[in-house]
Amino acid sequence: MSDRLESREKVTGAARYAYEHPLENPAYAAAVQSTVAKGEILEVHADAALRIPGVLTVLSCENAPHLHEVANGELAVFQSRTVAYRGQFVAAVIAETLDIAREAARHVRVDYVSEPFDVLLSADDPRLYKPDKVNPAFPADTEQGDPEGAFAGSAVRVDATYTTPAEHNNPMEPHTTAAQWNDDGTLTLYDSTQGASLVQDTIAQVFGLDRTHVRVIARHVGGGFGSKGTPRPNVVLAAMAAGAVGRPVKFAVPRQQMFATTGYRTPTIQRFRLGADADGTLNSIIHEVFEQSSTVTEFAEQTATPTRVMYRAGNRRTAHRLVRLDVPTPSWMRAPGETPGMFAQESAMDELAVAAGVDPVELRIRNDTDREPDSGLPFSSRNLVACLREGADRFGWEHRDPAPGVRREGRKLVGTGVAASTYPAYLRPNKATARAEEDGTFTVRIAAADIGTGARTALTLIAAEALKADADRVTVEIGDSALPQASVAGGSAGTASWGTAVVRACESLLGKMNGSVPPGGLEASADTAEEIRARDAYARHAFGAQFCEVEVDADTGEVRVRRMLGVFAAGRIINAKTARSQFIGGMTMGIGMALMEESAMDPEFGDYVNRDLAQYHVPACADVRDIDAAWVEESDPHLNPMGAKGIGEIGIVGAAAAVANAVHHATGVRVRDLPITPARLL
Ligand code: MOS
Repeated sequence: MSDRLESREKVTGAARYAYEHPLENPAYAAAVQSTVAKGEILEVHADAALRIPGVLTVLSCENAPHLHEVANGELAVFQSRTVAYRGQFVAAVIAETLDIAREAARHVRVDYVSEPFDVLLSADDPRLYKPDKVNPAFPADTEQGDPEGAFAGSAVRVDATYTTPAEHNNPMEPHTTAAQWNDDGTLTLYDSTQGASLVQDTIAQVFGLDRTHVRVIARHVGGGFGSKGTPRPNVVLAAMAAGAVGRPVKFAVPRQQMFATTGYRTPTIQRFRLGADADGTLNSIIHEVFEQSSTVTEFAEQTATPTRVMYRAGNRRTAHRLVRLDVPTPSWMRAPGETPGMFAQESAMDELAVAAGVDPVELRIRNDTDREPDSGLPFSSRNLVACLREGADRFGWEHRDPAPGVRREGRKLVGTGVAASTYPAYLRPNKATARAEEDGTFTVRIAAADIGTGARTALTLIAAEALKADADRVTVEIGDSALPQASVAGGSAGTASWGTAVVRACESLLGKMNGSVPPGGLEASADTAEEIRARDAYARHAFGAQFCEVEVDADTGEVRVRRMLGVFAAGRIINAKTARSQFIGGMTMGIGMALMEESAMDPEFGDYVNRDLAQYHVPACADVRDIDAAWVEESDPHLNPMGAKGIGEIGIVGAAAAVANAVHHATGVRVRDLPITPARLL
């Protein structure tokens, strides 16, 4: 159990985030957003802004330099007159100070030809189509057996439609970039990102540079949750602006502008059907998903993929349908796919438990499987049942009365619910170096990112173990694309993927050292691409079980989570302290999803109306009372040298269903549309 290495720096304010890096004579950018949801820019009137003292320039489609096209169309900043969604960046003012830039941005007038737009997701939209794949590379549809026939012939059936709203990541630190073009034509970016190497590669492509001519530095990042997993328009805008004024430029996306420009979780409409024998044994599982993308870039969330992993059934169909609306492009948000998909699946399982008269913990145990249903592969390890049993035991599930709506304490209706969790254990190729000095200290280098997860600390523990050295003799350098190339802090794959490269570099160094370090030190490097390619085929996933107790005010419909417990099986836990924080952080975000978070589409103007944390509610400390996470011992030799699975995302998966199932148990009301607001209960 280790404290975060940078905790003192962070709480004293010494830790520098992207925007805070001191640059020589920086200018500041402020962006102008489109006021129409669809159309063409006729003319950009910059004169009034340019007349304001301190304004250096105004950039827009009328004068922006040409950029190279990349897969993510959102990065084609100011490259066309076409407006694809309301709130899109259409111009930027660069000025001597932030205040001048912001004030001048209000004086940029843009004339548009406005066109009719469509921003509302509907399951019977004739334009819905089957994407070629869903993220990152799964088939859109899968089918085994005769799912419809088996469903029709089942003794117990659930056929329900669940909806989840658009949700926005709101990391404490917004998306910020400080950009500087150097005299030798290279570009340095201080960026708030989950992956310095990926930003380096992408921005090099956008500006037509060799990748070695771009350096991205991100030593501390104030949260990302997926929204900083790929570079957003702010990075391009800052770099373009710095080029235009011949000075370093700082650009922070204000919270108000994040809702249109930094990605969000697609809303989903999900029809879920379960067909089972009288004892709850599943015969058929059918999961049909409807979700949205933009006209800019296709983003197809993998919502039904957990349904291919969770339960045994001879007949199964999963399907994704997408419609491209005049909206910002959805993006990654903590456990994209698993989170909305498991809300539907684990709610449906609860409905089946009620319909079949089987305890919901027992129902999940009864339908456990030792092979991944979709692929037929054996699991590298699967301890869902252990999580359910351990959780039931710790939570005090045993004497639960299944009857809904019967426990009353004064005005409060009380209930408990359970849901399962799952998340894939990915492993991505990485490079790392390890260096030994004569004085017995070590330095390990990798372009990993610590976005608040404790990654720096975990990698230090991993390196120390591999080097058989005390952790205080090991320094791990991360957060800089000049370090060996690393994958993003995403897909819950950071620690496992970076750690593998770190271990291999350290092992190689120990081999070279042969007990002693020559004058000048010794260095070794590792590249894990081949090792990862050569792994045996297994289905690798983490699992978990979440238990929740709620009280619902019978008069107001207000839901309070009294206590919540998650038990996870995620391989070896590297650092108990930061792991627990990751788990309960995910679970807390799940409480937000269940009860509060909702980005509301305004059909009149065509964008999400939320602008800040007063309009986009997330749980505060008073909303999170007794919350705890635990884990079962899990030894899995098929993962990586640490035996670790990811833990960054599984905590949110299933959490909202656990809350919703507890609300049903408390009130007898099944809310299938998130969030569970008082209006939906009364
Ligand atoms: Mo996570 S949404 O894969 O950064």
